[in-house]
Amino acid sequence: MKPSPFPLPSGRVALVPSVLSADFACLKGSLAPVRKLADWVQVDVMDGVFVPNISFGPVIVPFVAKASGLPVDAHLMVSRPAGFIDAFAGAGAGLITVHAESEGAAACIKKIKALGLKAGLALRPKTPVSRLAPFMKVLDLVLVMTVEPGFGGQAFMPEMMKKVSAARKLIAASGRPIWLQVDGGINAQTARTSAAAGADSLVIGSALFSAGSPAAFLRGLRKI
Ligand code: DX5
Repeated sequence: MKPSPFPLPSGRVALVPSVLSADFACLKGSLAPVRKLADWVQVDVMDGVFVPNISFGPVIVPFVAKASGLPVDAHLMVSRPAGFIDAFAGAGAGLITVHAESEGAAACIKKIKALGLKAGLALRPKTPVSRLAPFMKVLDLVLVMTVEPGFGGQAFMPEMMKKVSAARKLIAASGRPIWLQVDGGINAQTARTSAAAGADSLVIGSALFSAGSPAAFLRGLRKI
């Protein structure tokens, strides 16, 4: 099994551009500035059923990988993810995150690991952190959504910080290298709030790609 391109948590905050807000008319131009400053990139996959929006499928993974030169994390906001694991793995996603609320999540995590990929489990805002407990022995990443999934550009939900801290405690108790990722409404200020609560992987979409200089924006976050 080839080694994973994804780094292990190291106490440093990983910056993860979400391509949902990138300029698809010029993906290369959009992602070029982040090549050296981000740790990996995320594709937000939406099926119009699990969330009231449709985004993209596995077809864009190789283009995002090539344009960014970074590992690709596929965040599956889909109601039945089992049917898409092979396709995203085959397209080159090195980490696949399914939602705890989607059908067959446990079997999907097993399958992602059996394929030699990193597995993530995401929680919608209303889903309690206790849903993570049965998976702490196998997960590589936990994603605490800080918005209701479905759209970029939404307002950060500060009430999720309690959940982030609780997830951090669960990860510490597991003794395993598990990323604690937040996604939704991340900007310079909420990045600081999230890192202070225990997050060590920040997914950033609209704040990054709407910044005058995405590179300067990421360099600023690096100071956190
Ligand atoms: C929601 C998406 C967004 C996206 C980041 O379903 O997952 O959270 O990745 O969007 P911003 O950074 O624009 O809130």
